[in-house]
Amino acid sequence: MSARKNILLMMSGSIACAKATSLISAWVKQGHAVRVACTASASQFVGRATLEGLSGESVFDDTFAAGRAMDHISLAQWADLVVVCPATSNLINKFAAGIADDAVSTLWQAAWGRGIPQFIVPAMNTKMWNYPATRDSVEKLRCWGAHILPTAEGDLACGEQGEGRMLEPADILKTIDALLSFDDPRQGARVLVTGGGTREPIDAVRYVGNHSTGRTAAGLADAFIELGLDVSWLGARSAIRPQHSCPQIEFDSFADLQQRLTAEVKESRYDLVVHAAAVGDYSVQEVISGHRQTAASKGKLASGDELSLRLTPNPKLLSRIREDSCNPNVRVVGFKLTVGADPEQIMAAVKRLFAAGGIDRVVHNDLHDIERGRHRLAVFRQGAGGAPLRSEVFSGTRELAAELTTLITVPRPTEEFA
Ligand SMILES: Cc1cc2nc3c(=O)[nH]c(=O)nc-3n(C[C@H](O)[C@H](O)[C@H](O)COP(=O)(O)O)c2cc1C
Repeated sequence: MSARKNILLMMSGSIACAKATSLISAWVKQGHAVRVACTASASQFVGRATLEGLSGESVFDDTFAAGRAMDHISLAQWADLVVVCPATSNLINKFAAGIADDAVSTLWQAAWGRGIPQFIVPAMNTKMWNYPATRDSVEKLRCWGAHILPTAEGDLACGEQGEGRMLEPADILKTIDALLSFDDPRQGARVLVTGGGTREPIDAVRYVGNHSTGRTAAGLADAFIELGLDVSWLGARSAIRPQHSCPQIEFDSFADLQQRLTAEVKESRYDLVVHAAAVGDYSVQEVISGHRQTAASKGKLASGDELSLRLTPNPKLLSRIREDSCNPNVRVVGFKLTVGADPEQIMAAVKRLFAAGGIDRVVHNDLHDIERGRHRLAVFRQGAGGAPLRSEVFSGTRELAAELTTLITVPRPTEEFA
């Protein structure tokens, strides 16, 4: 933040309050004005004298304090940005439910809709972070336009481990700065990345699968996160994971992936879906062992018997993503892997994907290139008359991610080449 800003810091009752006080000194040192509002619980964790000493201003913690009856409006008018840090699960759920029963929750609502950025920095135990109401509230607030910072993973104050831990103050400052200084409307856009391969069970221990590791998808997810996008990962249980922390959903079989992908795009508003998962073309419909015909067995089939599988073709998921999405403007990227294909065959394969509809870009790669250690990712878009146009070849996931983010603001290909 270069220009001097009026920063309204709202604190709620978490052990992370102590850490959050260092934000006040950092902002004051940078020349910003800071005012603090506290919930009653936050006052249990950090003293009024500390907050007033650091900010040089009185703390607002009582809506009805004598002489401060209009502070919940005047502070909202004063602020250039609002940072809720630490944000408890209680407060996040209150914000989403529209409850305004104390100084902080009232101020939050009074600051809403004034065109000032409102940041929420969650801090809580993993179970509280994953509590369904909290997940819904985070989603709701994000849809309404609040910036929800990610949480870190690691040791929690309660001795447990996992997501929900508050970001370190240096990372909070960096993230808020990056979000503010970046005029790019793509910042904070929501991306769903699918990766890894489906496994179709034959019995409890055997499956029909593919060689996908999910490496490219995980690399893309990490690159999107580094670009400031809000990423969710829908990955095979066996796949390589993104290194950065982000919400993760697992799938195993085609049916799993189909159900989770559909639910995810229906219920959450994504701006971009990058469908890099290697989806099996067939599911196991019937296992014929000796004279017995069964569906995929829950137990373990005896070894040594001759086995036949009846496979049934799976429907294409890619072409349904836009149709199922609650965001009609969602951008969809599909992947096409070929094996030793010549340019003509590649063009034909990409064309078939575009012909199925509902996608904005196709990323092509060839197994022979990957095996030779030359992973070339070619991005295709659709030209006039439906012919695919090859745009560029990328050798790394970072460059590819940067290219794909441009989709979030560019017009659809049909408008582009009309
Ligand atoms: C030692 C201690 C640490 C706590 N840490 C957290 C926390 O990190 N996140 C959270 O959501 N709640 C935490 N709580 C529980 C909240 O303080 C409690 O839900 C409170 O009602 C929140 O009120 P507020 O949201 O109005 O500040 C903690 C409670 C205690 C006693």
